[in-house]
Amino acid sequence: MTTAAPEIATLAASHVLRDTDLTGPEWRALLRLAGEVKATPLDYSQTLRGRYASMLFEKPSLRTRVTFELAMKQLGGDAVFQDHKGEKIGEREPARDMARNLDRWFDAVIARTYSHDTLEDLARWSSIPIINALSGLYHPCQAMADYLTLQERFGEVRGLKVTFVGDGNNVCHSIMLAGALLGVHVTVTGPAGYEPEPDVVDRAQQLASQHGGSIALTEDFREGVKDANAIYTDVWTSMGWEEETQERRISFFPYQVNDQLMDLARPDAVFMHCLPALRGEEVTDAVIESSRSVVFDQAENRLHAQKALLLMLLSR
Ligand code: CP
Ligand code: NVA
Repeated sequence: MTTAAPEIATLAASHVLRDTDLTGPEWRALLRLAGEVKATPLDYSQTLRGRYASMLFEKPSLRTRVTFELAMKQLGGDAVFQDHKGEKIGEREPARDMARNLDRWFDAVIARTYSHDTLEDLARWSSIPIINALSGLYHPCQAMADYLTLQERFGEVRGLKVTFVGDGNNVCHSIMLAGALLGVHVTVTGPAGYEPEPDVVDRAQQLASQHGGSIALTEDFREGVKDANAIYTDVWTSMGWEEETQERRISFFPYQVNDQLMDLARPDAVFMHCLPALRGEEVTDAVIESSRSVVFDQAENRLHAQKALLLMLLSR
């Protein structure tokens, strides 16, 4: 007896470079599919049979690399990893030439870059989807796993208050933009001078007002974390900013997520982190190891959410 192939909604956009490349309904469809793939992985074990992804990484990775490779394999396809840590994309040959080689062999390119422009360059010339596996500006695949984790924990993400504590970085941008599309109330609290990019804030505010959420920024972490359902933090110094490590330690120290800060949020608030974490800096060991911490659920959900993304991009 044959079973019907599961119904998979497809994405309209050619590439997924930023969170806004998916519409609000597409975000919801992705979270729904991720939940289904997680519950019945074997139903999808041949869906991408014979499909191959190229993986170009300029920066180190545990979670993103492993979960994309595993996702392709578990969906019946495979991935080929190309390490670009020693040589940035575009150095040996222009990104536009690279894109037009890769699209003759592969079905998708999954790329982690320093400059977001490198991804835009690849996408401009590529006839196959380019997926952002983290750039200097966005980390949409992280946000997919994070909102799946919140949906599992709270049943519904719309209306939740998520407070991002610390640097207005790539992860923060994606939490804001995806949250805006999902009707979440996102607050960012951190020291002056490290706010998220103003154009990302403006776009997130526009989207939030259309989808029933909101975006707020405050230097006052007490105000920021009040009534939050989730407290999210990330490293104070992202990859590429290492020369600022010392000055950042001083500026961000008051924003460390410790038990006192967690106690200012709702009693059932969860602690979130994209990982890798620096214990004793942005988060204490006690918080990350506490029962409120969902960091390993987030890490697990990278696999399921990215499977949903690959299915929505490649089975159309
Ligand atoms: N969270 C995340 O993207 O982890 P990696 O850098 O290990 O891929
Ligand atoms: N903001 C961090 C995220 C790592 C997954 C960085 O870009 O280094």
